[in-house]
Amino acid sequence: MKISIYIAISSNGFISNSRNVPDWLSPEYGQEFYSICKEYKAVIMGKTTYNILAPNYLPLTTEGTTVVLTTDRQAKSENSTVVFTQNNATEIVQMLTDKGHEEAVIIGGAMTISEFINAKLADDIYLIIEPTLFGSGLELLKNVEFEMKLKLLDLKKLNENTIQIHYEIIK
Ligand SMILES: NC(=O)c1ccc[n+]([C@@H]2O[C@H](COP(=O)([O-])OP(=O)(O)OC[C@H]3O[C@@H](n4cnc5c(N)ncnc54)[C@H](OP(=O)(O)O)[C@@H]3O)[C@@H](O)[C@H]2O)c1
Repeated sequence: MKISIYIAISSNGFISNSRNVPDWLSPEYGQEFYSICKEYKAVIMGKTTYNILAPNYLPLTTEGTTVVLTTDRQAKSENSTVVFTQNNATEIVQMLTDKGHEEAVIIGGAMTISEFINAKLADDIYLIIEPTLFGSGLELLKNVEFEMKLKLLDLKKLNENTIQIHYEIIK
């Protein structure tokens, strides 16, 4: 199964500013974000990201599978396409494979991306570089103790100032 990461970063590598307000994200990032989620039909995110997006901005609501990582065993959604799970990355990939998915996209945040990177289950990453610098914020990876090489697959200009870099993660 192919697992991709789709994430916007500041020009100095943060995925969130310390105000935790996503006003630095371009509309073009938003369009590409919804489009890749609809194409993949399986989306993986952490509970913090889910709490930001739900219910009005979830990328998939009537089709596919939305997997939300949480330690909260009581977490529930009225939407039957949303699955809350305490499973690790390997078990989530197995669950999605059993449901017939051949690809899935992780949309954040840092904890969730790091869970899949540490399990060496992420195949490629889209980095959307927004034209902004933050003095502080949330880094892309947490508790990842090894280095990975990347191979450039594609480079796309999303607007006058935003670029999307698509890398394969070499395992
Ligand atoms: N720039 C972008 O494109 C982008 C995209 C998405 C999010 N963000 C930003 O990222 C930030 C959120 O990132 P984050 O790293 O704090 O949170 P996150 O990965 O969205 O969610 C973290 C939560 O997910 C659950 N979780 C994560 N890994 C788990 C695991 N291995 N097992 C069980 N549960 C697990 C836990 O939920 P429980 O506490 O419920 O157990 C944990 O508190 C926000 O500021 C958001 O704005 C940026």
